[in-house]
Order: sequence, then structure tokens, then C-alpha cells
Amino acid sequence: MNTERDANQGDEGGMHVEPPRQRPLPGAPLRVPIANLAEGHALKLVYETPAGEPEEVVVCRLRGRLFALDSLCPHEGGRIADGPLMDERYLLCPLHLYRFRPDDGQVIEVDCPPARTFEVDEQGDEALVWVNGRPR
Ligand code: FES
Repeated sequence: MNTERDANQGDEGGMHVEPPRQRPLPGAPLRVPIANLAEGHALKLVYETPAGEPEEVVVCRLRGRLFALDSLCPHEGGRIADGPLMDERYLLCPLHLYRFRPDDGQVIEVDCPPARTFEVDEQGDEALVWVNGRPR
């Protein structure tokens, strides 16, 4: 008999099990594994708000620096993609192909509000993303 505990035991039987979602509280960062994040690429991570609502962050590496954005596209609610950066420098929303600058979330060549950005620090193989703001 399978139980929830059995399902969280790892990759046994060829079944991939996602780790539990993080729920960073105010004053604590979201920890995003970036050991496999290559220059010019982006990855996504789903986490939970303090209220338990799912959210998604995009972290990318560009010219050796890390940037983090809310994946929610400010145009019509699409999701900014992971994978290689467009033209080796822009994040892309696949719904209408709007391109976003990773550093400030600004949209290129169209009139649209910017994507929400977060402060991010690199610490070893993790990006510390301050999705609830960094304490001052
Ligand atoms: S919803 Fe993202 S470009 Fe339109």
C-alpha cells in the first residue's frame, strides 16, 4: 500500500518526486538551486507566499550576474519562460513574445509595464531571492 510518506521517499521505482515547496517568510529569502544555471540561461522555481499561495520566480544569469523576476507577465498574465535567453540577453514571454530585460524587468519595444523584479544574492550553489523584500 502506497502512502504519502512512501511517495516522498525519493526517486525509487523511477518515479520523480518534487521536493516540498518553500514558503519563505518575510525577512527570509527563497533559496533557488543554481548549480546548473549556465550563463545566458534562466530557470524557474515554484514557491508559496506566506499565505500559502503558489508563485513562480525566474532566475537567470547574464554576464556573470544573477537576476530574479516574478514569472507573471505584466501584459496579459502569461508566464515568462525559462531556458536560453532570447538574443542572449532577454527573458521571453511565449504568449505574445514580449521580451524583458533581466536587470529591471522593462519590456523591449512595446508599451507595457515592467515585470516585477527581486533582489538576489549568490551564495555558493544557491540564489537567495528576496521575494518578500530584504530586511533593512
Ligand atoms: S501575456 Fe506575456 S507577452 Fe502577452
